[in-house]
Amino acid sequence: MDAAATAGLTGRRVLLGITGGVAAYKAAELARLVVRSGADLRVVMTDSACRFITPVTLQALSGNTVYTDMWDPAVPNNMAHIELSRDRDVIVVAPATADFISKLAHGLADDLLSALCLARECALAIAPAMNRQMWDHPATQRNAATLRADGVTILGPVAGDQACGETGMGRMLEPGEIFAALVALAGPKRLAGKTVVVTAGPTFEPIDAVRGITNLSSGKMGFAVAQAAAEAGAKVTLVAGPTMLPAPPGVARRDVVTAREMHDAVLALVPAADVFIAVAAVSDYRVVAPKSIKLKKEAGPPKIELAENPDILAAVAALPSPPFCVGFAAETENLRENAQAKRKKKRIPLLAANLAQEAFGREDNALVLFDDAGEHPLDRAPKIDLARRLISHIAGMLEQRGS
Ligand code: C5P
Repeated sequence: MDAAATAGLTGRRVLLGITGGVAAYKAAELARLVVRSGADLRVVMTDSACRFITPVTLQALSGNTVYTDMWDPAVPNNMAHIELSRDRDVIVVAPATADFISKLAHGLADDLLSALCLARECALAIAPAMNRQMWDHPATQRNAATLRADGVTILGPVAGDQACGETGMGRMLEPGEIFAALVALAGPKRLAGKTVVVTAGPTFEPIDAVRGITNLSSGKMGFAVAQAAAEAGAKVTLVAGPTMLPAPPGVARRDVVTAREMHDAVLALVPAADVFIAVAAVSDYRVVAPKSIKLKKEAGPPKIELAENPDILAAVAALPSPPFCVGFAAETENLRENAQAKRKKKRIPLLAANLAQEAFGREDNALVLFDDAGEHPLDRAPKIDLARRLISHIAGMLEQRGS
């Protein structure tokens, strides 16, 4: 975790909700990180959470009374479900069980924690933790989708070994990762006042009216990067090639199809940008003379003449006063050598590299960041978590440049 992140919640008021799962013991470490970063921490636990870890531990770590009871007479007006979240900047529920997620999605409020989540005004983040079948169950997936649409931030889960002895999706993010996400959500807006342009998705180069050349890219990583930059307070424009993904909240979107359209859109936007992050998988070549009708198979295989597309990232980096440029590299082998060579060739300060075969179309990824200081591996995690860590790294580099 970088130094800026450990100081990331100074003066913020956090409510940590703990529900009943084996990962509850990790909430103690999360509490420690939150307190150490200068936040005021209030903890609320469900009855089942108290079967896994005692309120005494959380009381000692938070330095505050731990609440478990809707009817606690110590809370002003006996209105614990309203009072306890009123002064908070953010609520994080970690671990969040399948049962608790289901309650949240349906607006149930039959215990203190679910009631105060319903009555809150502040941001809410949850870190699911459960057996892989419970996570994969369509009901849980529906509930998670409902919560996302309601604006709840879902942190993880990740794949890995589970307490039940099985291996799969459903492991809670590590406390350090949840903490980093909290900093992004409720911490200082480290990109406030900055304008960021992000490219995402593939481009599509027509051969004829129905066929074309494209690259494998779901757009998920670029959309996650745009979301993370917006969370950090930046004004973000996402220039997106053809994808089915919805734009993240608060992000302006420009849809393009071809590499040249993406190039023109980006070059019109970057004079006003502080940061340019090129995540798109841009087609290197285009068809010189695409046909406007559908070519007939009877005519035999067409001869297709290709021309090189402009390298958008290199073009932006070569501007007289370029924004801070970040590139992505998907390699299939020799990640380190190829990534460093690409960073030098395109003359960019930061490059995020991954192995293509481990990233495409997946919800998670692993990245290595390359900059002048060397390399910084970011362990496998959901793309949004990696995006937040990338944005935190960029913010750190910009802060260093400014000082
Ligand atoms: O050279 P390569 O395509 O591997 O470089 C990848 C990086 O360059 C990515 O950041 C990608 O978005 C960017 N790029 C670009 N325009 C191109 C090709 C790649 O902006 N024509």
